[in-house]
Amino acid sequence: NEGSLWGGRFASGPSPELQALSRSTHFDWQLTPYDLAGSRAHANALHRAGLLTDDDHDELLRGLASLGERYAAGDLLPAESDEDVHGALERLLLEEVGPELGGRLRAGRSRNDQVATLFRAYLRDHARVISGLVLDLVDVLATQAAGHLDPSGTGTVMPGRTHLQHAQPVLLSHHLLAHAWPLLRDVERLRDWDARVAADSPYGSGALAGQTLGLDPEAVAAELGFSGSSANSIDGTASRDFAAEFAFVAAQIGVDLSRLAEEVILWTTREFAFATLHDSWSTGSSIMPQKKNPDIAELARGKSGRLIGNLSGLMATLKGLPLAYNRDLQEDKEPVFDSVETLEVLLPAVSGMVATLTFHRERMAELAPQGFSLATDVAEWLVREGVPFRDAHEIAGACVRRCEELGCDLPDLTDDDLAAISASLTPEVRSVLTVEGSVASRAGRGGTAPVRVHEQLDELRSRSTHH
Ligand code: ARG
Repeated sequence: NEGSLWGGRFASGPSPELQALSRSTHFDWQLTPYDLAGSRAHANALHRAGLLTDDDHDELLRGLASLGERYAAGDLLPAESDEDVHGALERLLLEEVGPELGGRLRAGRSRNDQVATLFRAYLRDHARVISGLVLDLVDVLATQAAGHLDPSGTGTVMPGRTHLQHAQPVLLSHHLLAHAWPLLRDVERLRDWDARVAADSPYGSGALAGQTLGLDPEAVAAELGFSGSSANSIDGTASRDFAAEFAFVAAQIGVDLSRLAEEVILWTTREFAFATLHDSWSTGSSIMPQKKNPDIAELARGKSGRLIGNLSGLMATLKGLPLAYNRDLQEDKEPVFDSVETLEVLLPAVSGMVATLTFHRERMAELAPQGFSLATDVAEWLVREGVPFRDAHEIAGACVRRCEELGCDLPDLTDDDLAAISASLTPEVRSVLTVEGSVASRAGRGGTAPVRVHEQLDELRSRSTHH
């Protein structure tokens, strides 16, 4: 079993079936730059501990750098017989600097602490990339929101819904920002996650019990960009809650994108006709020449299922594992890599789709007051006139009933109709029977009044520039 990391006690090599099952290079090869960085830090630790001469240390660093260059140039590849990225890189290093020297590097480390460190480092890098892409989408939503707020103190209105039924009119900007806030919280989740992961570099944990060679895990951690090393070597090698938590944030981003996507799908139907997709960000049909389909939104909605699946699959893998390392843990990487790759391709497409969406102001404005969406305004106007809310609710409800009898909408009721329903319903109530009046009156913090939405936009922008 020559060339393997663990041949010594075996009389025969691994069966081809075992090799086929065991091999992970097809997905963990991308950890190469992280593995090489770990090896460099580890070589430095061995050198500082007096276990490598200056010359050996220099030569090892040269070998590692050369592997890094070959990888970057695309001509470093694992062999069929390599079990994983760690074994492959050791074999290649041996080829590079000779077996005597190359064989010194494995002292004081195990693939268990190695992979636990590399996976964290890989995820920390991609968390930064994903945060940037999510912030791009937050910015796109903010720009669309700003574009639908007039400096004059009004803005594009639309029917706000609960239960998908018309509820109360709102500003389109307010609605769009309601999609931006959860995304901003996802970025904050990634930042919080990163601080936790950064404090916990497992290098130095060995296979599970720590190392005997006097190496300094804190120095290795610092060199790899971590703020600290694992306090418990068993935990350092056996825990994957960092991966599950990352997969959760990825799934949550997927859910947030999916909810936005679902609305884009509805808004671009003929029935809603609130918005039109840009040609470059929509697709056609192979048979129906008229079609313009919201495929980006549908893929966002579909891929959110996949992101949730990656999280639940990983958690199912973890739940029964005794301490410390078990080979089951090799199954931790593919779902999380998939979540990373999915978000890195999905987010730019969703941002482009939203950035180029055209909204139809007149259509939304026409629908905003329909469905008796101003009934709450009537009730709250009555409350300001001194009527108890229970009665006000009844009176406004009676207005709706009267409208249904007459086949009209609330602003169409005459002064006589109003007076017949309640003496409190003087003609002044008409001040709130316009969408603009309704929207402007919701002026408490967080409300849909244009002045508040302007403030909200500033608040969102200042919070998103802190990342
Ligand atoms: N490739 C393994 C993984 O991804 C790391 C190697 C640990 N293997 C082992 N037999 N202890 O988890």
